[in-house]
Amino acid sequence: MTLSPLDEAGVKQAVEQAKLAFAQAGDSAELKAARIEHMGDNSALATANRAIKDLDPSEKAAAGKAVGKARKIVAAALAEREEVLKKEELARVLQTEAIDITVGTQRSPQGARHPVELLQEQIADMFLQLGWDIAEGPEIEHEWFNFDALNIDPDHPAREEQDTLYIDSASIGEQSGDDIEPAHLLLRTHTSPVQARVLLTQELPVYVACPGKVFRADELDATHSPVFHQVEGLAIDSDLTMADLKGTLEYFAKYMFGPEAKIRLRPSFFPFTEPSAELDLWFPQKKGGPGWIEWGGCGMVNPHVLRACGIDTKRYSGFAFGMGIERTLMLRHGVNDIHDIVEGDIRFSQQFGTTGKGK
Ligand code: DAH
Repeated sequence: MTLSPLDEAGVKQAVEQAKLAFAQAGDSAELKAARIEHMGDNSALATANRAIKDLDPSEKAAAGKAVGKARKIVAAALAEREEVLKKEELARVLQTEAIDITVGTQRSPQGARHPVELLQEQIADMFLQLGWDIAEGPEIEHEWFNFDALNIDPDHPAREEQDTLYIDSASIGEQSGDDIEPAHLLLRTHTSPVQARVLLTQELPVYVACPGKVFRADELDATHSPVFHQVEGLAIDSDLTMADLKGTLEYFAKYMFGPEAKIRLRPSFFPFTEPSAELDLWFPQKKGGPGWIEWGGCGMVNPHVLRACGIDTKRYSGFAFGMGIERTLMLRHGVNDIHDIVEGDIRFSQQFGTTGKGK
C-alpha cells in the first residue's frame, strides 16, 4: 500500500489504524507484529515518508512536517502500549509465580518421641524433684554386676541361658582385638546392677534412680518383650527404714497414677533385698473390677550387696525397688498388647502427644 505524504486524511487514518492495532495487541508478541505492520519499512507511513523526497520542493516542508508528526504520534502510542503491556506481564508473573511465605507449611511430622522414652524422662524428673540423682549403667554388663554383686547365686535359675542373653565371647574377642577379658559378659537382665556400680563409685549417702533398657531371652507376646525398660531406685543412708521405702513408693505411685493411687507391700523374696516385698498397686480399672495389681519389687538392700561394694553395714543401710516402664505405661494408659509399644507405629506414639518436645 502506498500513501501519499500529501494525503492528509490518509496519514490521519494510518495513525488511527496504528493506534488501534497497538491497543488491541494483547502481549508483546502481538505488539511486535503491530509495530512491524504500522511502523516497519513497508508500513503506510514509512512509504509516505520515503515519497517526500520526490515531491515538489514547495510541498516538501509541509508534507515532511505532517508525516513526521504522524510518525511521532505512532511511536509515542507504541511506547505507551509497550509500557502498559510490560507492567501487565510483570504483574502476571508476580501473581503466577508468587510464593506466600506467610502460609503455614503442610509438612507431615516425620517422627514422634516414643512414649516409653517420655515416661522414663517423666520418672527421672520426679526423682530429680525429690532431690535424687539419676544414674545409668551399661547395657552390656559384666556377670558380676548383674548377678554376683546382687547376691544371686551361680546356680540361680535367672542365670540360665534361657533367661539371660550372654555375649558370645569368641566374637567379642575377635572384634575388640585387645586384651579385655570378654567372658562373662551379658545383656543386663535388670537395672539392679546399676545399684552396685553406684555404690562402688559414689560417696554415701546415695539416692539414685536408674532408668534403662534390659534384655531377656523371652519371645515377644502380648505381655513380654525380649527388650524392655525398668527403673531402679536405690537409697542408702544412715537411718533409712521400710517406712521410707513405702513413703517413696506411695509418692511415686500417686505421681504416676493420680492422687487416688494406693500401694501395698506383700512379703516376697529377692536375693538382693532382705526383707523383700512385692509392690502392688490399687487398680480401679482392673478387668473384672477394681483390685490390686503387681507393679514391681522392692525391699531393704541385703547387707551382702552392701558388703560386696565395700560398705560398712553397721553405719549404712537402705532400700531399693524396681519396676517395668512398659508395664507402668500399659497400666497407666490401658495399653493391652506390648506389640503396640515395640512396633514403632507413629500413630501409636502420637496418641501420647509426643510429636513435640513436651510431655
Ligand atoms: N531386679 C528385679 C527384677 O528385674 C526387680 C527388683 C526387685 C528390683 C526388688 C529391686 C528390688 O531393686 O529391691 O525383677
